[in-house]
Amino acid sequence: MTLKNNQTFRDALSAFPSGVTIVSTTDEKGRHWGFTASSFSSVSMNPPLVLVCIANTADSHAAFVKAQRYAINILSQEQKDIAMHFARKGVDKFGPHAFRYGTDDNPHPPMLPGSMASLVCVARDVHEAGDHTVLIGEIQDVELGEATPLVYYNRGFRNLELETADSLA
Ligand SMILES: Cc1cc2nc3c(=O)[nH]c(=O)nc-3n(C[C@H](O)[C@H](O)[C@H](O)COP(=O)(O)O)c2cc1C
Repeated sequence: MTLKNNQTFRDALSAFPSGVTIVSTTDEKGRHWGFTASSFSSVSMNPPLVLVCIANTADSHAAFVKAQRYAINILSQEQKDIAMHFARKGVDKFGPHAFRYGTDDNPHPPMLPGSMASLVCVARDVHEAGDHTVLIGEIQDVELGEATPLVYYNRGFRNLELETADSLA
């Protein structure tokens, strides 16, 4: 089968449900950067590696390519508004939201309370791939929360029904 057009590709991707994250970092001047991302994936267990893809056109692209550390905050159902806010360009992203920031004594990327989990990553690799850049990070620290995850499917946010269809155990 050949790819008829871009729309077919987009439609196929929209058939894949995913979680939603906010990827965040603080640059050497103390400025905070972040964007909403559903391209998050695990890569390796040993060492523990994950990836996220960032568009080359993102305003935060340069900051993430240079970042030595970033956090991947996996969003809960209660964080739809934050997901939308961090998908907007040219807004004050961090002002309206209560992130926990690093200090001189304890430097870390911005962490979002109320998330399902916040993964603190050390940057391991950066790959250019088409119009996106793949950021590969090694997990240094994990903070787990308790909530219900936010799901993105067919171009919209969905509520997850926590019903076990079939267990692998
Ligand atoms: C549900 C959802 C998922 C998204 N996933 C990604 C993604 O994986 N990578 C990406 O670069 N942009 C993604 N975006 C778009 C960015 O969040 C958006 O372009 C953002 O404005 C980029 O931030 P910046 O340009 O201020 O840096 C997503 C948006 C939404 C609503």
